[in-house]
Amino acid sequence: MSQFAIEGGSRIVPEDMVQAWPPLNQADRDAVLGIFDSGHLHGTSAPKALELQEKWADYVGTKYALVTNSGTASLHMGVAAAGIGPGDEVITSAFTYWSTAAAILHHNAVPIFVDIDPKTYTMDPALIEERVNEHTKAILPVHIHGMVADIDAIKEIAAKHDLLVIEDACQAHGATYKGVKTGALGDIGCFSCNRSKNLSGGEGGLWNTDNEEFVARAAKLREFGEVVAATGPREYNAYGLGWMYRPHEFINAFILSQLERLDYNNSKRRDFAAYLTKELADIPGFEGPYTPDYADPCYFSYVVTFKPEELGLDLTPEQWKKAVQKVLAAEGIAIGQWQTRPVPSQDVFMDRVGYGKGCPWTCPHGRNVDYTEETYPLTEEFIASHAYLGGVYPPNTMELMELYIDGFRKVSENAEKVVELAG
Ligand SMILES: Cc1ncc(COP(=O)(O)O)c(C=O)c1O
Repeated sequence: MSQFAIEGGSRIVPEDMVQAWPPLNQADRDAVLGIFDSGHLHGTSAPKALELQEKWADYVGTKYALVTNSGTASLHMGVAAAGIGPGDEVITSAFTYWSTAAAILHHNAVPIFVDIDPKTYTMDPALIEERVNEHTKAILPVHIHGMVADIDAIKEIAAKHDLLVIEDACQAHGATYKGVKTGALGDIGCFSCNRSKNLSGGEGGLWNTDNEEFVARAAKLREFGEVVAATGPREYNAYGLGWMYRPHEFINAFILSQLERLDYNNSKRRDFAAYLTKELADIPGFEGPYTPDYADPCYFSYVVTFKPEELGLDLTPEQWKKAVQKVLAAEGIAIGQWQTRPVPSQDVFMDRVGYGKGCPWTCPHGRNVDYTEETYPLTEEFIASHAYLGGVYPPNTMELMELYIDGFRKVSENAEKVVELAG
């Protein structure tokens, strides 16, 4: 066996081979630079804002879409436009980026968490119903890592208890459930377009619905609570509380340009994922992601499971993962950790800091949920035993994926040495 790079051997993946996301081309540059000469730098009725809304609604398959300035803004608009407010409860996943839950708190409502189905890492529908009570107004599933939540099972519970479904599709642009795109699966769909996302604008967000009342409410929330019409004099009258969730035209133009290549980019991610999963199935110590029949994920992140028991190692999956991370990092293969604990285990919930003075939990209307009494063992186990493989997207190539597999094979065949080298 040749030496590992960590002990002085040459790297498997040459330096500078892994390209950053998102891939940029001349069309992106022209689109953004064109804004300078367009005469429109901002506004929800600016040409690129309107064009993006139309194209995104069409792409997702909803009647309406709105541009926003982040995924967090979209989620907050989703919660507020659905009529959720102080004292209401929203059930969401314990495994997400915490902005999902923050958006619920932003409207003085109380997040209630459920554990995940570890196979799909999305909320387990079997655990939802026991958390429904008279305060519950909505379920907020998260399509995490580009995987789609089991939406039929979730919608069945929602219908039974008269709840709305708000999708956090921030990591799932173009993923489908039984052929229907995320964002069109529930009552409201929320997307992030920050730098890392499958549809990137550097920053930005998108928002979808079929509901005329929700979209009218969301549009007011996006701009100060006012109705800002495309033409005619501005009324300067706030119909209620609102925020400033308007994106810049640079961002709208950039996202529009990237949208042209979303399906192509997703198809490359799917090709890479299919190859990696097939190869990892024959490499002891590792496993690629499971894909349920209902889903065509878009692989925002390519998730790897660490299985030391397959190698006869007396290590926990987390210890095996850390050893592999260290040795493969030196080979130029980045294995990243996403999240370190379930969202309800973060200090903001443990200490219930919220707005201060106990709000929203002990404010009038609130319910004094004690998150310290709850555990999410499957989320914890998932976080400990999984990580994501960097660079599984274009413009990276199949050649890079093959080198990744060389790396996994080498650490699998020399597992004892890997543990020793990692210290
Ligand atoms: C699942 C999830 N929800 C919400 C967000 C928030 O999106 P943004 O960073 O655009 O506010 C993100 C992105 O980081 C996310 O991954």
